[in-house]
Formats: sequence, structure tokens, C-alpha cells
Amino acid sequence: DTPHDRLRTLPRAEVHVHLEGCLPVPQLEAWARRFGEPLPRPPEQLLKFEGLADFLHFLDWACGLVRSREELAEAAYGFSQRLAASGTGYVDLIFNPTHWKPWHGRLAAMVDALDAGFRAAEQDGLPPVGLCVSLLRTQSADAAAELVDTLVALRHPRVVALSIDGNEASAGRTGPRFAEAFRRAGAAGLKRTVHAGESSGPEGVRDAIEWLGADRIDHGVRAIEDPALVALLAERQIPLGVCPTSNLKLGVYPSIDVHPVDRLRRAGVPVSLNTDDPALLETTLEAEYALCQAAFGWTDDDLRAVARTSIDASFANADVKTRLR
Ligand code: ADE
Ligand code: ZN
Repeated sequence: DTPHDRLRTLPRAEVHVHLEGCLPVPQLEAWARRFGEPLPRPPEQLLKFEGLADFLHFLDWACGLVRSREELAEAAYGFSQRLAASGTGYVDLIFNPTHWKPWHGRLAAMVDALDAGFRAAEQDGLPPVGLCVSLLRTQSADAAAELVDTLVALRHPRVVALSIDGNEASAGRTGPRFAEAFRRAGAAGLKRTVHAGESSGPEGVRDAIEWLGADRIDHGVRAIEDPALVALLAERQIPLGVCPTSNLKLGVYPSIDVHPVDRLRRAGVPVSLNTDDPALLETTLEAEYALCQAAFGWTDDDLRAVARTSIDASFANADVKTRLR
């Protein structure tokens, strides 16, 4: 009974993980060989990322290798299998259509293929998954409106939220540009989740709340730089989906000792732990819990409380939440 075994039995959800970052590397290498596509860099440097921009570029290459409906459905099924193996009870899975070039213009077919994989997985007793369909920061207001129109017309029960991810540093201020798209998504009954406070400072987190009506913030860690904002997150109980290993590997913080997740939690902000892109960042959900336990001296009760926050902060339906708690 290792610490990781014990963590695997902790009832919890994961609310910040990208399908694009979950494609297993051996699978990517096999697809690349099959299509005669060269690797973007030498195999031993494949997962050495220079930062977020380099990482996002890699996602385009990886997703460009997934071309058929069967491959996409298999990717979904494989995701659910690994979820079950790590003991995670539910996932809000972010999926950004812009990275998947072979599928551009075919969002309904993509959602359908993913849904087929997740439905088969659920029928086999694997955990439920909700999709958060994501805009990329660098898209236009028109492109955002078009995506929301498509999602609202689709009304697919698998889709639980509108999301936005990508690099805030290269996109400028995006709150005002996407406000209308997020307003319409909210009016149509979708939840709203926003990457902010990773490649932006606290002002990005404030925009996510004030302009985009975020139900949850993905990362959000740089809110720590503005005490009034930390107080606002605590007062409104807006949850942050924190990804410690991702922040270290993509250069947001130099070491776990200076990572703000513990300070945010002590300030009363609801924080959950997540993997972001586990296959490419070489982490697991158990490892994220173990990392914080070791760095911040979190007790078993602290871990249980963080795990409980992950369930409360998720977009799972009431039945699933009750079962998990
Ligand atoms: N897409 C996948 N991982 C991401 C991250 N950490 N930040 C922004 N966009 C992403
Ligand atoms: Zn992310």
C-alpha cells in the first residue's frame, strides 16, 4: 500500500485536463510512422518544451495525426481507461477544435466520434466524462461567435461547458473580445471555464470573472499577485483548477516551494489539483497530490478536502456528484 495506492482510492474528480495532452506518446510515434510524418524534433527531445508557445505548437502536430473517426473514438476510450486506472471518478475534459487540423469545419462529427468512445467506455463501467469545448485565445470574436452558434445548435448532452485556452501572452487582452460569445453560451445553459493567470497576470483572472462570467478558472495561480483579487475569489468561492507540474514544466514557477497553491488555499480560495496535459508533461493525478503533500506538509484531511473541492467544482450532474462524495 504505497502513498500513490492510497491516493488512488481518494474520491475525486479532475476538472482541468486537455484531450490534446492525453494522447499517449507511443501512440503518437506509431501514427507518425504510419503516415510517414517526421517527428517535430529528435525522439529524445520530444517532450522537452521551451515554454507554453512551444508546447501549444506541439499539440497541433500531435492532433494532426488523428484522422479517422475510429482513431478519435479510440482516443476517447483510452482516456477513460487511464482515468479508471488512476481512480478518478469523473472528468471535465477540455477539447480545443483548433488543434485538430484534419477535422477543421467538422465539429459535429468530432463531438460525435468522441461521444461514441466515451459512451462505450461508460457502458463498460468506466467513469463519466463531460466535454468543455474550447476556444483558442488568438481567435477572433467572429470565430468565437461561430463556435458558440454551432454548439448551441448541436445541443449535445456530452458538451457541458464553453472554455478558452491557449497563450494569453501572445493574444493581448481577450476578456472584451470574447464577452459576447461567453454571454451567449451562458444563456444557452453551458457552464463557462477560462484559462487565466498562467500566461497572464492577475488582470487576466479579473477579466475572466468580470467579462466572461467564469464559473471556474483554469490555473488562476497568478491571482496571488493581487491580494484584493484573492479576497474576491475567496468571497465568491470561485474555484481554481490548479496544475502544479504543468506550471513547473512550462516555466510559470521555478520550483514547487514557491508555487502559490498552498497560499491560495489558506486564503480560502477553493483549489483543486489537476494534470493539464498528463501524457506530454509526464504526470498523473496521484503525483500532483503527492507533490503538494510533500512540499506543503498537507495532511490526509487536507488531501481529502482538496479532493472534495474537485468534485464540488466539477460540472458533473447532481447524481454523479452525490455518488462521488
Ligand atoms: N492547452 C493545453 N494546455 C494548456 C495550457 N497549460 N495553457 C493554455 N492552453 C493549453
Ligand atoms: Zn490547461
